[in-house]
Amino acid sequence: MYTNRTPLSIAEYWRWWVVHLWVEGFFEVFATVAIAYLCSELGFLKKSSALKATYMTAILYLGSGVIGTLHHLYFSGTPAFIAAMGSVASALEVVPLTLIGFEVVKTLKLSQAAEGFYRWPLRFFLGTCFWNLVGAGIFGFLINPPIVLYYSQALNTTPIHAHSALFGVYGSLAIALMLFPLREMVPQRAWNEKLLRFSFWAINGGLAAMLVFSLIPSGFYQLAASVNYGTWYARSAAVVGSPWIHWTVWLRMPGDIFFALGALAIFVFTMQAVIAIFYPNQNLAEIKTPNYF
Ligand code: HEM
Ligand SMILES: [Fe+2]
Repeated sequence: MYTNRTPLSIAEYWRWWVVHLWVEGFFEVFATVAIAYLCSELGFLKKSSALKATYMTAILYLGSGVIGTLHHLYFSGTPAFIAAMGSVASALEVVPLTLIGFEVVKTLKLSQAAEGFYRWPLRFFLGTCFWNLVGAGIFGFLINPPIVLYYSQALNTTPIHAHSALFGVYGSLAIALMLFPLREMVPQRAWNEKLLRFSFWAINGGLAAMLVFSLIPSGFYQLAASVNYGTWYARSAAVVGSPWIHWTVWLRMPGDIFFALGALAIFVFTMQAVIAIFYPNQNLAEIKTPNYF
């Protein structure tokens, strides 16, 4: 569709078809429908609400998916009404999943007992809804109005949104969708709640720390430089190599380390769980390499 000789505005147009229509289009529909289905089957969500959210997300996707893509094309030579349509259509995307999140939280408060068995798979689902609201909703909206994106495009304000939305929503969703079937298959003794609790808080806390201590301070610093002097300056070596940006890069470490430990914990949990499925009668501590010689 485009080569290295294609004008930038045309290349950008097609690039955003890939980025936007996957992350905000198809993935959003998949996440909403998967969560709606599972939560209604488990009794945490009314069937009518699950159906409403499913219809709403499908209608938004089919009706406004391509129009929403236009919120990336404000400065690719598009007319003003295209920019306006893009910003409105994309702002609606997060509504269905957010509504489901609120209703599941309300129901969980009423049924603490039921939450017990599925506690951690459900927590990761709620993590998905939380980051959908914060990462896609708040941080997405923050850079979405054309007047803001005019100054903030391709600064560190973009990864504030991109990290919290992409890992926050789809990373949490992938973990939750893995934990639900595992919960049914893994014997109770191998269901290591402590590892899951640690992993949940380390991953989500690490992501939050990465945003608060590093990406937000560096993104807003660049944004101020862009508003005062222009994007060329915000992206120049004078700003990107400044002591402030240097410090915010180092301040990324604590959050990143926590996040990595959380990822390691969920990996260890999954390995233990899978071993317990294949060796259901064995104590985990007794599993050794078979001695054939
Ligand atoms: C879960 C849903 C979402 C995910 C996973 C997501 C992910 C991303 C990613 C990865 C990028 C960076 C792409 C790149 O630079 O190549 C991006 C950019 C962007 N997103 Fe989202 N997004 C989501 C929802 C939203 C929503 C709902 C809005 C608006 C309300 C939004 C507004 C934007 C804008 C304006 C940019 C462009 C920033 C720039 O050009 O510098 N996003 N998004
Ligand atoms: Fe988009």
